[in-house]
Amino acid sequence: MAALRIFAFMILAAGFCSTLSSDCTYYGLLEHLNLTASNTGLEMIRPVKNWTTTTQVNLEMVLYGILGVDEKSQTVTTHIWVTKHWTNEFLRWNQSDFCGIDEVSVPKAKLWIPEIAIQQDASDDSSIHEDPWVIVHPDGSMFTFLRQRLTFTCRFNLYKFPFDSQRCNITFISMDSSVSSLVLGSAINDSVLMVTSTQFMITQGEWGLKDIELVSGNITNGWRYHSTLSYTVTLDRKPFLYVINFIIPLVYLLFLDLASFSISVDSGEKFGFKVTVLLSISVLLLILKDILPSTEVDLPVIANLCVAVFTLVWLSVLESMLVSFLLNLDPCCDKESKKIYMKKDSKVHKEAEEENGQVKPEQSCFPLGKLGAVELLRLILEEVKAARQEAGSQKKHRCYRRVATIIDNLFFVGYILTFVAFVMYICIGWINL
Ligand SMILES: *[C@@H]1O[C@H](CO)[C@@H](O)[C@H](O)[C@H]1NC(C)=O
Ligand SMILES: *[C@@H]1O[C@H](CO)[C@@H](O)[C@H](O)[C@H]1NC(C)=O
Ligand SMILES: *[C@@H]1O[C@H](CO)[C@@H](O)[C@H](O)[C@H]1NC(C)=O
Ligand SMILES: *[C@@H]1O[C@H](CO)[C@@H](O)[C@H](O)[C@H]1NC(C)=O
Ligand SMILES: *[C@@H]1O[C@H](CO)[C@@H](O)[C@H](O)[C@H]1NC(C)=O
Ligand SMILES: *[C@@H]1O[C@H](CO)[C@@H](O)[C@H](O)[C@H]1NC(C)=O
Repeated sequence: MAALRIFAFMILAAGFCSTLSSDCTYYGLLEHLNLTASNTGLEMIRPVKNWTTTTQVNLEMVLYGILGVDEKSQTVTTHIWVTKHWTNEFLRWNQSDFCGIDEVSVPKAKLWIPEIAIQQDASDDSSIHEDPWVIVHPDGSMFTFLRQRLTFTCRFNLYKFPFDSQRCNITFISMDSSVSSLVLGSAINDSVLMVTSTQFMITQGEWGLKDIELVSGNITNGWRYHSTLSYTVTLDRKPFLYVINFIIPLVYLLFLDLASFSISVDSGEKFGFKVTVLLSISVLLLILKDILPSTEVDLPVIANLCVAVFTLVWLSVLESMLVSFLLNLDPCCDKESKKIYMKKDSKVHKEAEEENGQVKPEQSCFPLGKLGAVELLRLILEEVKAARQEAGSQKKHRCYRRVATIIDNLFFVGYILTFVAFVMYICIGWINL
């Protein structure tokens, strides 16, 4: 009888206990899940009942912003949110036992968290903000998220700069586990990912997000295979600023240089003008040097353009030097007469000096006051000789001037042809490829 009583009491107690455990508190649930006391088993091991079971970790990366692209160091800085989804086979409960609780958050330190790294990551640790909680669902599925200012390396192809678009990989990889124990997948497909990223994108700066592609695979480090998930992000540069800041000034300077062919060499302005244009172009080259990395194997089209324009203007400076040299090869008429006058002046001075000394007969009456008839004739003769000489030299002078004009015209035509050919080459380079 006593045994029966005790049995009945035990049944009652059990019933009471069961009603207690079906309370609506999270604490009861955590107690049921054995998470209130320290449960090192759940912290340490991959949560599977049979070790041959593979844990599937699904990732969801949303791109919240493109903060900057550094062509020099070939890095892209972005702001991303990553959510990891996986299943813990030990944390399951029946919702009807717990008042319909459908999720509970558990501190991260209490549970095993898959460790996933980004292969191209070049950011420092302080840029990661991990959520301290893991959200657990009744079927054992759980997720946690982190946000990160991710700086990742990307090999840029700057051949078409500034009309380029870059394809960069963000590869998630699990280095701790091999592909047989942990497989990475995506929680959402490409199209949904693209839509979410465009919706949530806060800042893009100079770049526009064009496309995101997802590829999951595996890589080997020689003796083990690791599962990977690659996000291939395609970014389009907005070239407008470079066009107004760089390409248009360059072309304008080239046109200025072309226009300077109309300045006459005699004015002396042409040479200085051309050198000024050359200096302006070298300033633009300095700007370009600040943008592009020096590691580029094949020179970007724009660098070719700069070098070509610089060379053209440099050649035209040389050419205008040659032309002015040719024109100055024979002293021109007014300079010649100046020289004659100077000779005469020096003669006068000599006369003045020798006034008190022994006076030679030819020069005795040179001073204008004492000019004799013979001397006057001689002077006139000299003057006529000089005039004849001058006429001869002017003929030569005209000959040189013709050569200079021919060179100038030929160079001008060559210059324009080279320019047109080069513009075509540049356009083909920018449009194709
Ligand atoms: C909690 O621990 C007890 C005893 O250690 C065990 O019987 C029970 O199955 C555990 N509960 C869960 C949900 O693992
Ligand atoms: C563990 O999984 C393997 C392969 O799936 C299976 O052959 C084995 O029977 C399982 N062991 C247990 C104890 O369930
Ligand atoms: C949950 O518990 C209810 C009643 O206790 C039961 O009917 C139901 O089958 C259980 N569900 C699962 C998934 O075990
Ligand atoms: C990005 O990843 C894809 C697939 O994994 C690969 O084919 C491609 O070469 C990678 N691109 C770069 C720039 O690493
Ligand atoms: C991506 O997923 C959405 C819903 O999850 C679906 O409607 C769509 O067809 C999927 N797209 C592709 C390409 O699988
Ligand atoms: C790695 O991936 C390739 C296909 O991407 C697959 O054929 C191969 O079996 C995988 N290797 C392992 C070890 O899973």
